[in-house]
Amino acid sequence: MNEKFESIKNEILNGIEDLQSSKAVYELKKHFLDSKSGKIGLLMKEMKNIAPEERAGFGKGVNDLKEWALQRFAELDEKIKAKELQMRYEQEKIDVTEPAITVKNGNLHPITQMRNEIIDVFAGMGFEVMENKEIENDYYNFTALNTPKDHPARDMQDTFYLSPEFLLATQTSAAQIHTMEAKKPPIKILCPGKVFRSDDDATHSPMFHQMEGLVVDKKITLCDLKGMLDVFVQKIYGEGTTTRLRPSYFPFTEPSVEVDVSCFECGGKGCKLCKGTGWIEILGAGIVNRKVLSNCGIDPDEYSGLAFGIGIERATMLKYGINNIKLLFESDLRVLDQIDNN
Ligand code: PHE
Repeated sequence: MNEKFESIKNEILNGIEDLQSSKAVYELKKHFLDSKSGKIGLLMKEMKNIAPEERAGFGKGVNDLKEWALQRFAELDEKIKAKELQMRYEQEKIDVTEPAITVKNGNLHPITQMRNEIIDVFAGMGFEVMENKEIENDYYNFTALNTPKDHPARDMQDTFYLSPEFLLATQTSAAQIHTMEAKKPPIKILCPGKVFRSDDDATHSPMFHQMEGLVVDKKITLCDLKGMLDVFVQKIYGEGTTTRLRPSYFPFTEPSVEVDVSCFECGGKGCKLCKGTGWIEILGAGIVNRKVLSNCGIDPDEYSGLAFGIGIERATMLKYGINNIKLLFESDLRVLDQIDNN
């Protein structure tokens, strides 16, 4: 019997020699020690074949063998598990001294920033914001704005027509008509929108953005317009700036003005930006034409209005010294990253 115990011992010693993983240790342990199918477990079943006087000795021998085997497997298991843990530590090692990957925050597009800034300024003066339409019909874009068919002023804007009746909005001024049709004075609205003209050079793009402003109430005058625009330029271009009004022409305003801002680069002395004049043209505006008020059912003897249209790209280019409008549409992060006014 002792030989049999010895041979199982040798089998175990040989078997455990080249085990590499805790799983393999577990499998081999099962092979010998499983209570039902294990080699040592099965020895107990032979008890009935043993002469009664030898049974006690046999039982002890099997138990000793079992204890011995358990011991071997436990030692080995501990060693291999420690090795495996060490390997995991190596694999999952984190170098805490390695520089972190920086996550770059995005920022709003300069045009969106400028739009929001302008809205902030006028919201502070009590203006409401409304949305503009990108497709207009001829009546709202032109006729109701005192620019009937064949009016020479239609040539001021190169229009993309979609059909004889529909067109891509060339100006946000149609918002004046939509607003005055929908509500009666007092009116104080601001309307940002995309507009389209067949025009393409360093300072013009076929699609650009405007911000329309309209105030209609009793006794609105050019003084109200200048006062509001002064606040606007001071907030956007600096405390020291002011505006001046020059006579101009738009069919829907009378009188019409071109508004200049005093040069915020040189303070009015004359420089490259203002071409030596001390002034920079920034927007068109005027007193709402009586005919436009009448077109919308508002009595021009009782009410008057002011309107202005700000080119958002132009306002942005001036503020940040951008000399080509394309830079605002190319999505080049080297440009866009530099403008973060939020
Ligand atoms: N709509 C005019 C333009 O696009 C600007 C403007 C708006 C002028 C409101 C006067 C009043 O040129």
